[in-house]
Amino acid sequence: MSTSFLIAEGLSKKFPGSRGKPDLTVFDDVHFTIDKGEFVCIIGHSGCGKTTILNVLAGLDTASGGNVLMDEREVSGPSLERGVVFQGHALMPWLSAKKNVAFAVRSRWPDKSNKEIDDHCQRYLDLVGLTGSEHKKPSELSGGMKQRVGIARAFAIEPKMLLLDEPFGALDALTRGNIQEELKRICAATSQTVFMITHDVDEAILLSDKIMLMSNGPHARIAEIVVNTLPKNRSRETLHKEPRFYAIRNHLVDFLVSRSKRFSEALPEGYDPKNPPLVTPGVEPTPPPVPPVEFAKVVNLRN
Ligand SMILES: Nc1ncnc2c1ncn2[C@@H]1O[C@H](COP(=O)(O)OP(=O)(O)OP(=O)(O)O)[C@@H](O)[C@H]1O
Ligand SMILES: [Mg+2]
Repeated sequence: MSTSFLIAEGLSKKFPGSRGKPDLTVFDDVHFTIDKGEFVCIIGHSGCGKTTILNVLAGLDTASGGNVLMDEREVSGPSLERGVVFQGHALMPWLSAKKNVAFAVRSRWPDKSNKEIDDHCQRYLDLVGLTGSEHKKPSELSGGMKQRVGIARAFAIEPKMLLLDEPFGALDALTRGNIQEELKRICAATSQTVFMITHDVDEAILLSDKIMLMSNGPHARIAEIVVNTLPKNRSRETLHKEPRFYAIRNHLVDFLVSRSKRFSEALPEGYDPKNPPLVTPGVEPTPPPVPPVEFAKVVNLRN
């Protein structure tokens, strides 16, 4: 039996056609696993079904086929064991930053006292760098700060799994970089298990342990899984100096630019959707072991 924390088995999603149009199978035969503490990114073209997969993992949508096991239990319906950060921050505009976080924390632990909830929320707001802005309403916060409230809220419920849908898509480059570093630090410190959608290949290489490449729809699949072989302590400053960085980056860009379409037109020979190929761009293949010299041959040579 597999020991993976999350197992997605044979997921498919079909939307019924309307006004005489045929049904749309967005993706099918999607299999992948995520280990505990692993940070996994998924990239693929717009419309291939990434958000739909995230919603299925979150229990906010149901797959047409297949199932998801998290911590050995089938995912059916939303749960406070999973924290979701949506692309739009989805805050309650009439509540302060802290009260937005507190609302989720109170739902998770209804028996905590007001003081305990306040301390707990403060800890997570401090963690994302919002000390001093706790009492501001979303309208008084910048886009980056609102996004941090969303992240603090997702972290504060201490979910077993964090699901992030392009969480930094709408941010300027500087804020985005700072929050990426914060997220990386928090995830490493708490061994958080993460599934994240991004369109940004550099972000995927900075943050993730592995990057799933999704082919174009309809009938999109997990085409490949790229293993991130860069050192764990990589940062935005050091990333582009890592010897394998460009090999990984070029591999991802090449997939998005040409291979994702080719993959959808014809599945590569030997492709098994249950075991998408694991690739390590830039890593030289290990040479085959040298066969042991037979004793008889050594004797012959000497003769
Ligand atoms: N309720 C629905 N009814 C019909 N089709 C839908 C519905 N919801 C999503 N789709 C279709 O499913 C496909 C996948 O949508 P999804 O939002 O998962 O894509 P995505 O990979 O997240 O795209 P993006 O990168 O643009 O966010 C799209 O083609 C979309 O039009
Ligand atoms: Mg999406």
